[in-house]
Amino acid sequence: MKRSRAPTVPTGGGAIELNGLTKSFGEVRAVDDVHAVALPGQVTALLGPNGAGKTTALRMLLGLVAPDSGIATIGGQRYDELPDPVRQVGAVLEASGYHPGRTALDHLRILATASRLPDDAPRRVLAETGLASDARRRVGGFSLGMRQRLGLASAMLGDPGVLVLDEPTNGLDPPGVRWLRGYVRGLADEGRTVLLSSHALSEVELIADHVLVMAQGRLLRSSSLAALRAEAGVGSMVLTPDRDRLAAALDAAGISHRRTDEGLAVDATPEQVGELAAQHRIVLHGLEGTADLEKAFFRLTQEPHPPVERPKSAEGALS
Ligand SMILES: Nc1ncnc2c1ncn2[C@@H]1O[C@H](COP(=O)(O)OP(=O)(O)OP(=O)(O)O)[C@@H](O)[C@H]1O
Ligand SMILES: [Mg+2]
Repeated sequence: MKRSRAPTVPTGGGAIELNGLTKSFGEVRAVDDVHAVALPGQVTALLGPNGAGKTTALRMLLGLVAPDSGIATIGGQRYDELPDPVRQVGAVLEASGYHPGRTALDHLRILATASRLPDDAPRRVLAETGLASDARRRVGGFSLGMRQRLGLASAMLGDPGVLVLDEPTNGLDPPGVRWLRGYVRGLADEGRTVLLSSHALSEVELIADHVLVMAQGRLLRSSSLAALRAEAGVGSMVLTPDRDRLAAALDAAGISHRRTDEGLAVDATPEQVGELAAQHRIVLHGLEGTADLEKAFFRLTQEPHPPVERPKSAEGALS
């Protein structure tokens, strides 16, 4: 076990359940009859483009917004019914609300004291989130990524079994994202329930076990990443000065492809394309596997969802 914890604190979280959760703001149906579950021992990603309703759903889960209908529970209870929420649920909704003149350690000490948490909790979470050496720095000078870490540190103070993180990769650099991935993986492996939101599948592809895809307030998909990946198929993006010959070779091999601004998008793995190109002595300037999952996610969230109006037919641009 990587982390040391107070032995009195139970690790297991309990499942998060959203049951028919619905919320409108005026004309906007921000969250529309969402049914979803996030299980202990798993990292569940709530995925969707801007305005999908992710934050609103998480705010309802945390009792910060009242649903119009439906219910959100953690281990079977609404957030406001939890006997000891600080020790049961840790949440980071946005990296803000810090007193800029306070040090990271003071910020955590104040929170810990207010919640009657053990004196060693602030140091423990600073170490866990990689902020130990910044403990005495003022939060006002923190970068966005450091604030994200401090938000996580605050959420982990009570050593909760359930973590709810809204866009936790926001502001993190690639090493930061890698670190976060390992950190939340460890938390889930300890039996905790981790629910995090993101608008980019690529950011959570390596973190999440399960994805809940949302757009326009609706839950479009609840599935394992493995299932989504299998469904997405494989593809390559090819740059070649010999596009016509490669296209002909692909046609002859029965592999479908499309021209893009810069090259060819091919429905085959980079290995298959590379071998075919070598057989035909076709020069390639670039060959990479496309983020198939990202494409599938994009398609899913861009599809018309009744009763939403059908969009005008658009050329399937590959981004
Ligand atoms: N307090 C509010 N008042 C009015 N409209 C709101 C409010 N909160 C959210 N909305 C609207 O509800 C919809 C969903 O917003 P929400 O913030 O939940 O989306 P999101 O998926 O978190 O988006 P993002 O990726 O941009 O964070 C949006 O149309 C938004 O404008
Ligand atoms: Mg949001």
